Amino acid sequence: MILPIRVFGDPILRARARPVSGPSDALRTLITDMTETMHHAQGIGLASPQVGRSERVFLVDLTSVMAEMDEEERVAYQPQPMVFINPKILWDSARTVQFEEGCLSIPDVREDVMRPESIGIEYHNQDFVRERLDAGGILARVIQHEYDHLDGVLFVDLISSFRRSMLKRRLRDIAAGIVEADYPLAVQRSRAVA
Ligand code: NI
Repeated sequence: MILPIRVFGDPILRARARPVSGPSDALRTLITDMTETMHHAQGIGLASPQVGRSERVFLVDLTSVMAEMDEEERVAYQPQPMVFINPKILWDSARTVQFEEGCLSIPDVREDVMRPESIGIEYHNQDFVRERLDAGGILARVIQHEYDHLDGVLFVDLISSFRRSMLKRRLRDIAAGIVEADYPLAVQRSRAVA
């Protein structure tokens, strides 16, 4: 089932998500629905608060950007989507890189964000088996973006104050419900008149 995506201004995007206690039918359904929602919106990542569920779950699907990877990376990143439950970033590199990010919860906004180039992460996979992964490149980038969602952090929090001031009006409009996308959004109509 395709779920509507919460947009900037929705309090759930600012909450710290709860750990998942264990495997369940509800968790499997959530992952199935999130996968369908992410694919429909042509996203490469999706965190559960974005669909209104404050749980420590996110997905990454790099299928659409595989062409930019070398063979070794492509093999390492199977299967897709990758499911991260109760993730914990164990380390990140001192070396940082700039990369343009967007977010399904902030339609039509893209900004360069500086983050560690590589990370190590521990998580439960879709079968609730604990796994460890070292990631670089675009995978490290998407993981860090989605991981932030579980702590109520959005990529626009990480840009320069100058760029943020340039975006102020646009973000205010989105929070007020003045926003459209090619996928269903959960816009709080009560704010749309503001
Ligand atoms: Ni996002």
